[in-house]
Amino acid sequence: MAQGYGFGKTILFNEHFVVHGIPAIASAINQKTIATVEPSDGEGISLIDERNATKGYKEEKLDQQRESLERIMKAVGISTTQKPIRLTLGGDLIAASGLGASAASCVAIARALSEHFNLGFSDEKINSIAYEGEKGYHGTPSGIDNTAATYGGLIWFKKGTPNVIEQIKIQRPVEIVIGNTGLVADTKAAVARIKDRKEKYPEKYREIFRKAENLAYKARAALEACDLEYVGRLMTENHNLLQAAEVSCKELDHLVDLAMTRGALGAKMTGGGLGGNMIALTPGEVLQEKVAGAMENEGFEVIRTKIGI
Ligand code: MEV
Repeated sequence: MAQGYGFGKTILFNEHFVVHGIPAIASAINQKTIATVEPSDGEGISLIDERNATKGYKEEKLDQQRESLERIMKAVGISTTQKPIRLTLGGDLIAASGLGASAASCVAIARALSEHFNLGFSDEKINSIAYEGEKGYHGTPSGIDNTAATYGGLIWFKKGTPNVIEQIKIQRPVEIVIGNTGLVADTKAAVARIKDRKEKYPEKYREIFRKAENLAYKARAALEACDLEYVGRLMTENHNLLQAAEVSCKELDHLVDLAMTRGALGAKMTGGGLGGNMIALTPGEVLQEKVAGAMENEGFEVIRTKIGI
């Protein structure tokens, strides 16, 4: 049985703006999606999705998942007509909006296919196949999610030809809390929304993008210096820019406020927004527990994890 993995991720700075060429920072998290591939007696590909998921996520993403799988198979260049397979998705990454679940699954599938069909793909090739798969979910992905899902670590990403991908070094992994609004979000729609607004209000969005770019450089330096107070402040500023760009929502804003009142150093939406997840920077297990507990008391699901692993 062939297996492949893909990391979940959280975007610390500049989701959405990254689609328009602004640098962004993402971190892989410990939680992964695992794909297994084995021969099957059926026809083509039988997909069994055993991932834990936000309610409604799998159903809502089914068409996008099918399109993504077709794109992956095309990019891999293998037909399953003669060699049918059973593809199973599992692992400890929850299938939820904002955690890079789609990218993690694309990377895991590409790796499992490479092993099953003895293709010996490099990480670079896996990343490019996963990028094709991501198009099924995102339309025009920047590539940051599949890059974080492939390589792991803390990454600086700037879309371009070629993309700039650099690992950021941080002194130690830092505790964060990921809070789930419980709302399934459509990243494709959120990306399209910014494109549309940007065309309507070019001045406003130019100013937001300019501030976001500035912030990315400050954030990278603060992470490298492990100045967590400042990283936190910049995260909250980044959330304000995402609010101004109209991709947050009242549930995300509520969780951000809640985290801040419980002492988080910074908090923001993460990923596509309009639902999905947010993150709070909570160095140390005591602060992490305080923030996570406050969210759980209100009935929200949380993940206690770390960035810079
Ligand atoms: C989604 O995780 C991140 C977005 O910036 C889209 C992308 O970069 O492809 C919203």
